[in-house]
Amino acid sequence: MKNNIITALDIGSTMVRSVIAKTLANGRLEIMGIGECPSEGIERGIVKDIQALSNQVRISLEQAETAADTDAVNIYANITGEHIRTQLGDGRIAIPTEIPNEPGEISIEHVEQVINDAKNSVKIQKGFERHKILHGIPHDYIIDSQDDIRNPVNMNGFHLTAKVLTVLSELTPLRNLTKCIELSGYEMDQENYVLSHVALSHSVLSEDERRLGAILMDIGGGSCDISIYNRGALEKVLVIPMAGKAITEDLAIGLKTTLASAEYIKTQFGNAIASDVDQTLEIEVEGISGRAGTRRPQYLVSHVIQHRVEEMLAMCYNRSKDSYTPELVTAGIILTGGSAKLEGISNSITNAFNLQVKIAKPDLSKLEGSTSRLDDPAFATAVGILYYAMGFEHEPQARSFNLGDLGNSKFVDKLKKIIKDFT
Ligand SMILES: Nc1ncnc2c1ncn2[C@@H]1O[C@H](COP(=O)(O)OP(=O)(O)OP(=O)(O)O)[C@@H](O)[C@H]1O
Ligand SMILES: [Mg+2]
Repeated sequence: MKNNIITALDIGSTMVRSVIAKTLANGRLEIMGIGECPSEGIERGIVKDIQALSNQVRISLEQAETAADTDAVNIYANITGEHIRTQLGDGRIAIPTEIPNEPGEISIEHVEQVINDAKNSVKIQKGFERHKILHGIPHDYIIDSQDDIRNPVNMNGFHLTAKVLTVLSELTPLRNLTKCIELSGYEMDQENYVLSHVALSHSVLSEDERRLGAILMDIGGGSCDISIYNRGALEKVLVIPMAGKAITEDLAIGLKTTLASAEYIKTQFGNAIASDVDQTLEIEVEGISGRAGTRRPQYLVSHVIQHRVEEMLAMCYNRSKDSYTPELVTAGIILTGGSAKLEGISNSITNAFNLQVKIAKPDLSKLEGSTSRLDDPAFATAVGILYYAMGFEHEPQARSFNLGDLGNSKFVDKLKKIIKDFT
C-alpha cells in the first residue's frame, strides 16, 4: 500500500466527505485529515454534472490533504443507486484429490475458485453484460451432501458448492464516477469501489447484530439505503430514491422560503412527530429574495416533515417487507446517515416497521488521532470505507485460514478481498 495511506471518499447527494488515514503497525488506523464539502452534480448515485461534482470532490480531497499534510492516494470510494443489482446463485467446483475415491482437502484457493465460479455464472447471464461485479458475498457452503457449512477451509470433500450473493453495478454510472474523480486530479482504481451498504456494515453493525438478524438503514440526502441481514449474511440490498432533501424541498415550498432557510429550520426545529411539538411555539421564516419574513407555528413545520417522512418510510417498508421475517430481525433496525439526526425519526420508523430502532454512529474504537469529527451518523459510510479497505472486521477469520502458509502476497491481497466481502 502506497505510503501506508488509505483515502476514503464518500460521494453523497448532500456532502462529499473524505478521510485520509495511515495504517499503523498495531493494525489500527491513524486519522490524518478530514475533508467535507457540499455535494453538487450527483443525484442518488448518478452523476448529473461531471464538472460540478469533480470540483466538489477536489475541494473535499484537498481539505483532507491540507489537514493530513500528505497526498490523497489509494482512494476507495462508495457507490450506490437504483442501478445496483444483486443475484443469488451457486458456484460449484470439484476438489482435486491424489488418492482415487478419497475426498480432497479444501483450501482457501478452492473457496476463492467457488466464489468466482458463482460470480462468473452471474456475469454470463443475459441482462448483466453491461454490469461490473462489485462483490461476491458467500452465504454458506455445501460439501457433497452436507449443507449449511459456514467455513469449509481444511474440511474434506469431493465437491464444494457456495451460495453467493453477487452485487453488480451498471458500468455507465461507475465509469462516470471514475471519470469525475480523475477529472478532479486523482487516481481511481476500478477495483476500489465498495457498495455503500457493505461499507456501512463495517462501521455500524456488530457481529451479534449480523447474526441475530438486522435491518441496516442509511437515510441520507438523496436515498435510503437498506440492507437486510439474516443469520450473519447480507440477504437483500435496497435503494429507495427519497430522503432528507425531499423533506427540505417540501418545507421550502410549504413555508415559501429558500432551500437554505428550510434546511436550517428542519435541522434546528424539525420533528418527525408533529404531536410532540409545543403548539404555542413559533419560528421566524425568512422570505425569498428580500421578501418580508413571517412567523409560523413550529408544529406546522413538523406537520410538513411528518407527512414526507411517513411517505418515505411507507416506501421503505413496502419495498422491504417481503424480504424479512419480523421475528428473525432480532436486532431490529440500525439507523444511520445524516437524516438519522432528525428529531423523532426513530419513533416514526418504529411506527412504520413495528421494530426497535437504534441510532448508530460509526465505531471509532479501531481509530487513533483526531476522531471526534467522525463521531456522527453522517460519517458512518466514510469510516466504513476505511474499515473495508483495511479488512479489519475479518482478521480473526483470516487467522483461522492460516495465512502464514501462503507466502504469495498478491494472493493474500486477493484473499483479503474475499474475506472482506464475507460480511
Ligand atoms: N440535525 C438534523 N436534522 C435533520 N436532518 C438532518 C440533520 N443533520 C443532517 N440532516 C440531513 O441529512 C441529510 C444528509 O445526510 P448524509 O450526509 O448522510 O447524506 P449524503 O451521504 O450526502 O446523501 P446520500 O447518502 O443520500 O447520497 C440532509 O438531507 C440533511 O438535511
Ligand atoms: Mg450517504
